[in-house]
Amino acid sequence: MDTERLSETIIYPELKERNMRYKPIDNRLFIENRKRLSEYLEPNSICVLNSNDIMPKSADATLKFIQHTDIFYLSGIDQEESVLLLYPDAKEEKLKEILFIRETNEKLAIWEGKKYSKEEAKKISGIKQIEWTSRFKEIFRNLAICADKIYLNTNEHPRAEIIVETRDDRFIKWCKKAFPLHKYRRLAPIMHKLRAIKSPIEIELIKKACSITEKAFLRALKFIRPGVWEYEIEAEICHEFLKNGSRGPAYEPIIASGADSCVLHYVKNDKKIIDGDLILMDFGAEYAGYASDLTRTVPASGSFTKRQKDVYNAVLSIQKAAAGMLKPGNTLISYQKAVEKIVEKELIQLGLFGIKDVKNQNREKPLFKKYFMHGTSHHMGLDVHDYGNRYGKFEPGMVFTCEPGIYIREEGFGIRIEDDFLVTENEPVNLTATIPKEAEEIENIMSRSSL
Ligand code: GLY
Ligand code: MN
Ligand code: MN
Repeated sequence: MDTERLSETIIYPELKERNMRYKPIDNRLFIENRKRLSEYLEPNSICVLNSNDIMPKSADATLKFIQHTDIFYLSGIDQEESVLLLYPDAKEEKLKEILFIRETNEKLAIWEGKKYSKEEAKKISGIKQIEWTSRFKEIFRNLAICADKIYLNTNEHPRAEIIVETRDDRFIKWCKKAFPLHKYRRLAPIMHKLRAIKSPIEIELIKKACSITEKAFLRALKFIRPGVWEYEIEAEICHEFLKNGSRGPAYEPIIASGADSCVLHYVKNDKKIIDGDLILMDFGAEYAGYASDLTRTVPASGSFTKRQKDVYNAVLSIQKAAAGMLKPGNTLISYQKAVEKIVEKELIQLGLFGIKDVKNQNREKPLFKKYFMHGTSHHMGLDVHDYGNRYGKFEPGMVFTCEPGIYIREEGFGIRIEDDFLVTENEPVNLTATIPKEAEEIENIMSRSSL
């Protein structure tokens, strides 16, 4: 059977409406993203982006497919084995943008179900020329011999640990061998520039992810009491995510009670909640590929102790001051330094060290680092720790988290409060503003739910 017809016939017409988890993204987003990218490319150059692999587990098992966020950003295509080829200076219109997708067959249809038809891929991406991936090498060769430069994609996220070879990495090896005399260019710096500034469509998607996260937090607040387990809270949160059209958490949820609230990347979530504990919950829904990233710290019993509340309010006041600095012109480095100064003051107020101690401290190892040892903000978007230039100035359209914390291991608790902010020409806009965070507000909601 003709494979194009096959992928149309295996879905019943009504399923076209029924099989969507989220509303289709307006393809003007991807069309515009490609246009912005082409403005950065040198003349007569080709650019190739690959999908992620489906990662193996063991035996014949695999992890769920997670699309590479760069090809998604430029096409909206969320399927394995897709390749995007851009050649803005191609001599023929139809060769300027070509999207290659995996050709389906009867066996695939039986085992895995629907794959994109060419028509669907066209609609999603706004790309007119859709080919099967099996034709990639032949078509690429014909274009490469006309082009001077080839842009390829490497992972240049400053915090990425590069251990596993990606499809892009394998393609780079193949391509450089097949076309050794072309000039090669890095795509990553351009992607970092583009993706740091969010368009109105992206901001709407991030807001939707934030609103799902809000529902999950309110549900968790109603559920929390001494005796429940951290993973049960995680289950409440994840159920709310999935129920609302999210594919799940944008990153591994941290549900850290007691002393584990001081463990920055605690993800075991396997303890029973004990009366008197604080629970630090760092979680965020993904929606249509976009992340949200929230942290709230709440008392298991529904009421903070005096000391817990003092530290909580210190973190809250640091967060409010920090968020006010997410303005054009500032940089992550100057911003972090300014936040650290405020943290230092609050730590003195909390009696964790004195002014004299600060005067005598080793400048290489300032005292505040014992209690606040991470960055205050990171870019957020398709990736939870999204792309951006850490030396660059904040610009309108950037989305940052703001997540200061104070972790007092000797007292057995840590507090972090995290919201997501959009940088504008004026005041930053808190995209998670309606999610309760004043101590009394949290206590009130918790006391109502225990009635
Ligand atoms: N949840 C990861 C972070 O807050 O950066
Ligand atoms: Mn977080
Ligand atoms: Mn974060």
